[in-house]
Amino acid sequence: EKGGYDHFMLKEIYEQPSVIKDTYRGRLLANEGIIKLGGLEDHIQKFVNANRIIIVACGTSWHAGLVAEYIFEDWARIPVEVEYASEFRYRNPIITEKDVVIAISQSGETADTLAAIKLAKQKGAFVYGVCNVVGSSISRETHSGTYTHAGPEIGVASTKAFTTQITVLTMIALKLAKVKGTISQANYMQHLRELELIPSHVEEALKSDEKIRAIADVFKDASNFLYLGRGYNFPVALEGALKLKEISYIHAEGYPAAEMKHGPIALIDEHMPVVVIAVNSNHYEKVVSNIEEIKARKGKIIAVVTEGDTTVKELADFIMEVPKTTETLSPLVTTIPLQLLSYYIAVMLNRNVDQPRNLAKSVTVE
Ligand code: F6R
Repeated sequence: EKGGYDHFMLKEIYEQPSVIKDTYRGRLLANEGIIKLGGLEDHIQKFVNANRIIIVACGTSWHAGLVAEYIFEDWARIPVEVEYASEFRYRNPIITEKDVVIAISQSGETADTLAAIKLAKQKGAFVYGVCNVVGSSISRETHSGTYTHAGPEIGVASTKAFTTQITVLTMIALKLAKVKGTISQANYMQHLRELELIPSHVEEALKSDEKIRAIADVFKDASNFLYLGRGYNFPVALEGALKLKEISYIHAEGYPAAEMKHGPIALIDEHMPVVVIAVNSNHYEKVVSNIEEIKARKGKIIAVVTEGDTTVKELADFIMEVPKTTETLSPLVTTIPLQLLSYYIAVMLNRNVDQPRNLAKSVTVE
């Protein structure tokens, strides 16, 4: 059942090239420049006329929502707020009929997310679901939606659900941007094509498996980790830290790289491994100077870089390479080495990788 892998988590990490493809298959026709999402076509005007989009989710799904915020605002020019479902539901939020709420949930059973949806519906908002489990409570409670096609996710730590959620959200953003005319034709076409290349890029990123295992061996006894990223990769830093803490029980924090100097930099010394996402982007130079600041304080740097990178390679103690894609789509590849790093650290510490202590696959109580 684990298909020859030691754990479901590893199997699911390795399934990502094929499930990302399953998620866009029949929906993305790159050569024709078409995106077809059944659940979206009939309601596209709701999105186009929306004052704002409110994304509600928990945990890893909330991180996918944060990535989507950057993508939606950039391409579709619709204001986006991303909310923890548990906070949103209890603070008497302002919701109107002009709001579109997107609920993201792998299981489709998360109690807080379900309650947030019910509240949004009462207030007259249009509610759209991005779920993995067909027929789940959230998929039934939403007005419409798009399924991720990740297949069953058994490992408690969410991996393939995250990347397929981003795949769906990216297609929604591209479709809206196209309909609204807020994206250039060239950018639109380039991203349809790039999205089709993601499965092979993920495949390529997975080939660093052994190098990552060696890095895990070096840092497995650390008691803290810091994860830093900027822009589209800030949420990936949060997700990398969450993955590490939930399966290895090592304390980890994710931060926007620029926030480091506002506090966390005080933690940095020779015992602090810092994972920095430093792929090609508009922020590259700025991330390089963040790395120099860490180095000056003797922090150990593990950097996720674009293949062929030389600058960061010279500064970092260890690098994990990923193939080049656009900055917008980069979270789909930068996530992969971080999943493997936490997996191998947890295995080396003899943790129960697929069923970490105190955690459940779906959180049906608040
Ligand atoms: C992290 C993890 C949890 C879930 C969260 C939401 O690896 O598994 O943080 O992401 O409980 O679950 P869903 O997406 O099922 O609503």
